[in-house]
Amino acid sequence: MTHYILAIDQGTTSSRAIVFDEKANRIGQSQQEFPQIFPNDGWVEHDPEAIWSSTLAVCQSVLKDTGIAAQEIASVGITNQRETTILWDITTGKPVYNAIVWQDRRTSVYCQSLVDQGWANKVQEKTGLLIDPYFSATKIRWVLENVEGAKQKAQAGQLAFGTVDSYLLWHLTKGQSHKTDATNAARTMAFNIHQQEWDQELIALFGIEDVIFPEVMDCSADFGDIDAQWLGASIPVNGVAGDQQAALVGQACFTPGMVKSTYGTGCFMILNTGEQALKSEHKLLTTVGYRLNGKVTYALEGSIFVAGAAIQWLRDGLKLFSDAKETQNLAQKALNDDSVYLVPAFTGLGAPYWDPDARGAMIGLTRDTSVEDIVSAGLRSVCYQTRDLVDAMAQDGANFRFLRVDGGMVVNDIMVQFLSDLLDVTVERPCVTETTALGVAFLAGMKVGIYQSLEEISHLWEADKTFQPEMDKAAGDTLYKGWQKAVNRVRTKT
Ligand code: G3P
Repeated sequence: MTHYILAIDQGTTSSRAIVFDEKANRIGQSQQEFPQIFPNDGWVEHDPEAIWSSTLAVCQSVLKDTGIAAQEIASVGITNQRETTILWDITTGKPVYNAIVWQDRRTSVYCQSLVDQGWANKVQEKTGLLIDPYFSATKIRWVLENVEGAKQKAQAGQLAFGTVDSYLLWHLTKGQSHKTDATNAARTMAFNIHQQEWDQELIALFGIEDVIFPEVMDCSADFGDIDAQWLGASIPVNGVAGDQQAALVGQACFTPGMVKSTYGTGCFMILNTGEQALKSEHKLLTTVGYRLNGKVTYALEGSIFVAGAAIQWLRDGLKLFSDAKETQNLAQKALNDDSVYLVPAFTGLGAPYWDPDARGAMIGLTRDTSVEDIVSAGLRSVCYQTRDLVDAMAQDGANFRFLRVDGGMVVNDIMVQFLSDLLDVTVERPCVTETTALGVAFLAGMKVGIYQSLEEISHLWEADKTFQPEMDKAAGDTLYKGWQKAVNRVRTKT
């Protein structure tokens, strides 16, 4: 009998469920978008009930569409938008507030006050992170301080915290399991990545000590069993990882020095640094790549908040085209795109600037700037931001010649070629670009014996297309200088 793996990929804009067979072939997929809530400037929320109901719906429909019975699923993996923060009542399972999404900037003033009080070094030493609203801890504090009754509930030992993986696991197991994995924990700013435990000093500093934190597990572990009510049979959950780390696994970047970049809503570049937790001197994050059998593989990460979201804005906000697929054609016709720059700092700037108050801009416009130029500038903005990360990594002593890319945007050859030109590295695109889901399927499959080792998994990775730099390096550097000038115009601090 074939054993299938069900991968749940709960992302920023949609929930997906994908069934893989033992050879990592994608058998079926179901996807559902859910509403984005923008209650205030720089605020981004999701309705946790919508996260849960869309996740359940896609799991049910992928089984129905593929005709695979729940009994044939050997294991389930959950991968998720990271940092997004949910607090719920442990008796009712009801959230006390909307999910505060990773992009949300509402705690920027509090974060700045922590920096002013001199906490930056200690936070970085313990968590590998830079103090920023991006991470969960200050979002938890905001809920306790601002939502009526939340603090009292926490003091009464009734309030659970979780990132989206934890919240889904809680519901899937009907409250039997309150767990997370080391990669998600590493994004909260309350987890000591060296000792691999919640950091009580930081938790007290943020004033969130009354909240119940999930138990932190390896990425491939026993996370609990899905209640039979949901899918028709009880199925074990054996893989959990934040989506970017899951992509690192899906891209088989298992050797120190291997690097991947995922282009979804945002763009996240992760470099495997092995057993070494490399401290960045250039504003990158030190994080957990994956944890297996209690052994941590560390990584260096560059996080960009807006990548695919810039293309979404050009489509839905400016209505320049109706389908993202058109961007390749449009960009090919651009004539003036060397001088037009779009800086998509819609929710501030992430690495390496960490400027939550910066906002977007488009510069270099002339009377003959066309829709094509603007679309091309949107695609290029993603590449320029990637170059920011690569340069920061190089300054930290991490150089590489190969980059593996994935995510929705990389079907666009024009964009990937420009990326290779601008970075002056070989860019490899895999056959399976759903690397996030695939990565967590590998993690789940390892626990139930479908995959024996990382080495076996790395043999399943296959390139679809390899892009070599074609542009003269000096020309790329000149274009990049223009980007740096454009970014400097929107920055509020240096
Ligand atoms: O850190 C945020 C990240 O995990 C979100 O990923 O794929 O939803 O853009 P994505």
